[in-house]
Amino acid sequence: HIGMLEVHWDIDSTSSELARRNPVLDDLSFVLAEAQSAGRGRRGRTWLSPPGMNLYLSVLKRFDGGFASLSGLSLAVGVMILRALDEVGIRTAGLKWPNDVMAGNAKLAGILVELSGEYSGPCAAVIGVGLNIRLPDSLHERAGQPITDLAALTGGQPPDRNHVAAAVVSALADGLRAFERQGFAAFAKEYAASDLLVGESLRVIDPRGEYVATGEGVDERGALRVRRADGEAVTVDSAEVSVRRS
Ligand code: ATP
Ligand code: BTN
Repeated sequence: HIGMLEVHWDIDSTSSELARRNPVLDDLSFVLAEAQSAGRGRRGRTWLSPPGMNLYLSVLKRFDGGFASLSGLSLAVGVMILRALDEVGIRTAGLKWPNDVMAGNAKLAGILVELSGEYSGPCAAVIGVGLNIRLPDSLHERAGQPITDLAALTGGQPPDRNHVAAAVVSALADGLRAFERQGFAAFAKEYAASDLLVGESLRVIDPRGEYVATGEGVDERGALRVRRADGEAVTVDSAEVSVRRS
């Protein structure tokens, strides 16, 4: 059972739309759009959202336990996206902590989790997913990092977009209910199996400074574990940090 599912031709951002309408919507309401005029990523970055063949989708999920119960949510959503891709025959994608779905070195999908409500009471997450199915060529130069699409992963014949959309919606509906009951624990094994940063040399970009470290997986809350060059083990929370493969 899901709430409403609405499809727009063009909208500023599917996540903004859900945030505006949050109070009157049922749990697990979805908004999809053909294009976004103000698609966004983390920290105000732009998510390029041309019309055509991509997926721009957001879902509203309410939780009773407050923000503290939501650690690992964006990682769990990554696992849900991989489950949906598996469903449509794509098994070559992996996860780059904390919120990217990658194929090789290129970004295939992004996940944006935005919370509202109470820190230790009822709250809501608006979860946005942008998944590239067939990108216009011109987008590659504008992205500022390598990006890819399902067409590239399938030699030009991506799965039907409606099938992908249906698989993503149902993976999110099922997965978010499981997350509500069990948290990140229900996703940890699959996350580890698709974690692209294990054993990699990483550049951790923290507001207080930057350092090089080796990825050692994630902890039970979904925080990134790394080992610095001096041997010190560090746990990194996602909020303020960027990680690059160095
Ligand atoms: P971080 O690790 O800090 O999250 P990030 O570069 O992945 O770094 P995000 O805010 O997660 O940053 O994502 C936004 C970035 O995603 C943009 O700056 C751009 O480089 C890239 N991007 C924008 N549109 C697309 C798209 N349609 N497909 C893939 N990547 C895109
Ligand atoms: C990221 O990698 O930073 C996350 C990108 C999330 C993009 C999706 S597209 C649907 C939803 N609406 C938005 O404005 N952003 C998310």
